[in-house]
Amino acid sequence: MSEASIVGSPLRTSLDEAGENTTARRAVRLPPGPPLPRAVQGAMFVTSRRWTVSQCMRYGDVFRLDVPVFGRSVVVADPALAKVVFTANTDDIGNVQPNLSRLLGPGSVFALDGTEHRRRRKLLTPPFHGKSIRNYETIFEEETLREAANWPQGQAFPTLQPMMRITLNAILRAVFGAGGTHLDDLRRIIPPWVTLGSRLTPFPTPPPAIARRGPWRRLAQYRSEYDAVIDRMIDEVRADPNSASRTDVLALLLHSTYEDGSAMSRTDIGDELLTLLAAGHETTASTLGWAFERISRHPGVLERLAAEADTEGNEYRQATILEVQRNRTVIDFAGRHVYSPTFELGEWVIPRGYSILVAIGQLHRRAEDFPHPRRFDPQRFVGNRPPTLSWIPYGGGTRRCIGAVFANVEMDVVLRTVLRHFAIDTTTTPGEKVHSRGVAFTPKDGGRIVVHRR
Ligand code: HEM
Repeated sequence: MSEASIVGSPLRTSLDEAGENTTARRAVRLPPGPPLPRAVQGAMFVTSRRWTVSQCMRYGDVFRLDVPVFGRSVVVADPALAKVVFTANTDDIGNVQPNLSRLLGPGSVFALDGTEHRRRRKLLTPPFHGKSIRNYETIFEEETLREAANWPQGQAFPTLQPMMRITLNAILRAVFGAGGTHLDDLRRIIPPWVTLGSRLTPFPTPPPAIARRGPWRRLAQYRSEYDAVIDRMIDEVRADPNSASRTDVLALLLHSTYEDGSAMSRTDIGDELLTLLAAGHETTASTLGWAFERISRHPGVLERLAAEADTEGNEYRQATILEVQRNRTVIDFAGRHVYSPTFELGEWVIPRGYSILVAIGQLHRRAEDFPHPRRFDPQRFVGNRPPTLSWIPYGGGTRRCIGAVFANVEMDVVLRTVLRHFAIDTTTTPGEKVHSRGVAFTPKDGGRIVVHRR
C-alpha cells in the first residue's frame, strides 16, 4: 500500500440513477509494481510474459506493470476484482487498445465498445447458442476422421498441426458455410495469413511507409484476396432461394437484422467472419494439442477416457477439457481499456488511458480454488462445476468469448472421435515446454503422441 502512487485528482462525470449529471472527485491510486525502468519491464514482458507476471505476484494480486503495446497497465489476479472488471459499465471501460481489430478491420466485434458492441453481440449470439452448435457436430467428426485417415501408427508425430487443420476447416464450413472452390481458396489463403498476423500482433502498427513493405504488405495482399472470396460467397447466399434453411453463421447473419431493422454491411460481415476465425481457430487447436500432450502423460486419465469414448457419456471427457484449459491455459489475458476519467477497482483508482489485464493463467493457478494447482487432475471437475470467478479461460462479462460452446463441443467431438479410432500410447517423457505463438500458448513440440488404430 505504501508503494501506491497518488497522482492527480481528475473530475469524474457520470449519470446518477435519476439520469442527472453527477461529478465526483477521485484521487488516482495505483497498486504497487516493480520499481524498474519502463524499458526493463517491457523487455521482461516480451521475453516471458508468464514469468514476469508470476514474479510480480510478490506485489500482490493486483499490480502495476508497463508493457509493450498496451502501455501502462494494471494486472489483476484476484477473482473478485476480475469480476469487477468484467461487469463494469462498458462506457467506463472498453476493449483493450490496441487489439486484434487493427488486423481484422473496423467491422470486427473487437473494434466495438458500448452500444455498438451490445448491438453486435445480440446479432452474433443466436448462431452460437448450444442448439445451433449441435448442427455442427457432424462437421467436427468428419473433419477429424479426414485428418486422422493418414496418421502414422507406432511413430511419434505432433498433433498441433492436424488440430489446426481440423479447427480451420470446421470454422470454414460451420461459420463461413464454405464448400467447393471457396473452401479451397480460403484454405490456401488463411493459414499463412493467420500465422503472419499472429506473429505481428505483439508489434505496434508501423507508419504507412513501412506498412507498405515486407510482412505488412503481405498481410494487405492476403486481405484483398480474402475480400474477393467473401464477396462471391455473400452474392451466392443472396442468390440462393433455399438460403433460409442454411445453418452456417454467414447465412444466419445475412438473414438477421439489428433492432432497428438494418442489416450488417458487407465489409462488417467480412471483418466479423475473419474475427471468428482468428479468435476460434488457433485457440481451440492449441487447447486440443495440450489435451493430447496431457493425457498421454497420465495413464489413469487416458484409460478412463478411452473406456468412456465407447459409450455415449462424456462426463469425464468434459472434466478433462476443463482441466486442460485450467492447467495449460492458452490465452493468458483478457484486456480492457479505461475510458472514464477514473475507474475504481477495489481500493485502487485507475486513471483514463490505462490498460487492465485480467491474468487468466495466474487465476488458474490459485491454490485456494484449485488444490495442488500444478497437478493435472480432471477428477477435480467430476461432479463439480468450475468456480466461475477463477476458472475463466474464455474471459468474462459482456465480452466473454462468444465461441465458448462452439469450442467446447468441437473439442469434445474431436477427442471422442480420436479415442474411438485410436489407442494412444502413454509416455514418461517430461511434459512439453510452453511456446508462445504470439497470441496463444502451445506445447513446444506440438503435442507429440504415438497412436495405433483400434
Ligand atoms: C478453446 C478455445 C477458445 C478460447 C480459450 C477462447 C478465449 C477467448 C478469450 C479469453 C476471449 C476474450 C474474452 C474477454 O475479453 O473477456 C475471447 C473472445 C472472443 N472469442 Fe474466443 N476462445 C476460444 C474459442 C473461440 C471460438 C471457437 C470462437 C468463434 C468461432 C471464438 C470467438 C471469440 C470472439 C468473437 C471473441 C470476442 C468477443 C467480444 O469482444 O465481444 N472464440 N475468446
